[in-house]
Amino acid sequence: MTAFKVFALVGSPRVGNTHRLCRMIVEKLAKLVEVEASIKRVEDYNIQYCRDCSTCLVKGVECPIGDGFKGLKSDIAECDLFILASPVYVVNVSTQLKTVLDRACSWYHRPPFLGKPAIVAATTASHGLRQVFNVLRTAVVGWGMVCIGEVGAKFHGDRLVEEEKTASKIGEVAGQAARVLGRKVKPSPSAIDLVIFESMKREAKESLRWAPHDYRYWEEHGLFEKPYYSDGVHISPFKRALAKLLLAVTAPMYR
Ligand SMILES: Cc1cc2nc3c(=O)[nH]c(=O)nc-3n(C[C@H](O)[C@H](O)[C@H](O)COP(=O)(O)O)c2cc1C
Repeated sequence: MTAFKVFALVGSPRVGNTHRLCRMIVEKLAKLVEVEASIKRVEDYNIQYCRDCSTCLVKGVECPIGDGFKGLKSDIAECDLFILASPVYVVNVSTQLKTVLDRACSWYHRPPFLGKPAIVAATTASHGLRQVFNVLRTAVVGWGMVCIGEVGAKFHGDRLVEEEKTASKIGEVAGQAARVLGRKVKPSPSAIDLVIFESMKREAKESLRWAPHDYRYWEEHGLFEKPYYSDGVHISPFKRALAKLLLAVTAPMYR
């Protein structure tokens, strides 16, 4: 059997705590299924800032900046499981990671990774994990993936604290990843993930007037008729109803 390709993108400038957390996730997963893993930092790609030239959004074509962004996109495209990871930097993702999110702006409009399973991971000294999970989760979901878990870890300096709690969370998420990769269970988007999908669908419908390539992309991929970016996900009627309610309440946040 061929190994599952796991690719982790780390937003830290150093091979430090977040890199280590990704290694721990990969090592746990490797005990459950055969994996071939690669963990890279954003800095390994030489990615420049977005220049707001509007090429990707308004013209609907690839970013014209000739740097490592294309290579990053193909590394993500080729993997079976993607891990997006960042240290907490002032209650947010790192600048390096945010640069990738900005450059990937068109991916939220024309999601290229439909149905790819993803894990989000973050490290902190004390707080900010929730905020960073929200940013990372919105990214992978907006890019068309299905987020199967969030793993956070606290480090005092370079020392992992709450070791047992972290190991247990890694075990839980790696177990779910192994079941999803082995097609033993269908991943289940959260109600918020469904809200993100519906919000982007609404935007794509409205884009017919000013960015018709977005509309055409959603139409060609049959996304207007779907309840999520990909088939093969489990959505309970309760989650569907909750998402509808949340969409009504949170609409201004996503507009
Ligand atoms: C610029 C900077 C900002 C940080 N901001 C926070 C913060 O807001 N809250 C927090 O608890 N830790 C904060 N930290 C600590 C890091 O999140 C923590 O040490 C993390 O594990 C570093 O990961 P790394 O070794 O992969 O870079 C910050 C560290 C740096 C360098």
